[in-house]
Amino acid sequence: MNKALLVSDAAHFRVDYEINPYMHTEVQPDHAAAVSEHEAIVAAHRAAGRRIEYVASAPECPDMVFTANAALVRGDRAVLGAPPPERKAELPYFQEWLINNDFDVLEAPYPFSGQGDALACGDLLLAGYGQRTDRRMHAVLGRALGYEVVPLQTVSHRWYDLDLAVAVVEPGRTLAYCPQALDEPSRRRLGGLGMDLIEVSVEEATRFALNLISDGVTVTMTRGAPRLAAAVRERGLRVVELDTTELAKGGGGVRCTALTLDNPLPAAS
Ligand code: ARG
Repeated sequence: MNKALLVSDAAHFRVDYEINPYMHTEVQPDHAAAVSEHEAIVAAHRAAGRRIEYVASAPECPDMVFTANAALVRGDRAVLGAPPPERKAELPYFQEWLINNDFDVLEAPYPFSGQGDALACGDLLLAGYGQRTDRRMHAVLGRALGYEVVPLQTVSHRWYDLDLAVAVVEPGRTLAYCPQALDEPSRRRLGGLGMDLIEVSVEEATRFALNLISDGVTVTMTRGAPRLAAAVRERGLRVVELDTTELAKGGGGVRCTALTLDNPLPAAS
């Protein structure tokens, strides 16, 4: 899984507004450092054998480096994100890229944070709601992309996207999550999946530990979470830890910077 990723670049990455609790307009990213941080993430994906597609960032879109929010893709279908007003200007660029690359593109009828609130795990979709995604999107995603949806609600704006609170380490087998980030029914739903669950502390989760990309072999993640990194290594996966200091000023980490283009389709029955 996750062998083809759509990324942008950090050329226009800035903090122009505050739409999550990690963003402070008085704390701007260092331009050169942000660009090299992003380049190092992309280089790590390539080294792990992942195919990279690019959409160039636009000057009027300071958050465009976070491509995960653009859509959720499966097979030849993409459901576009419906982000907060501050990020609406990004959509036409992603829509154009997806159409030019032969995806059948659907618009979201309700607020939807794209892959930020939608973690594919085989035929299951761990889907967030209550922050940037309207729960009514779950039925839309289930129908459009053929997923069985597992709804998960995060408890505060600190977890404004589900991919800060939960991570798929090995599809169908291992998840990592921060228990304090989810409400009780959501914790029960996760527990009920019968998978191995790695618990991550609030401290590591707020350093975007869970905002990782895994293909089941290599886990690409932030350097700020040694305990999660160790737990993943113990399970026999390779871990690549990267600096995400500048991206963190926008409230994101490794996973936010890539949109998966090849989530597996259901096995033919
Ligand atoms: N500044 C961006 C926002 O608030 C960060 C997005 C991070 N994306 C993610 N998938 N968590 O929209």
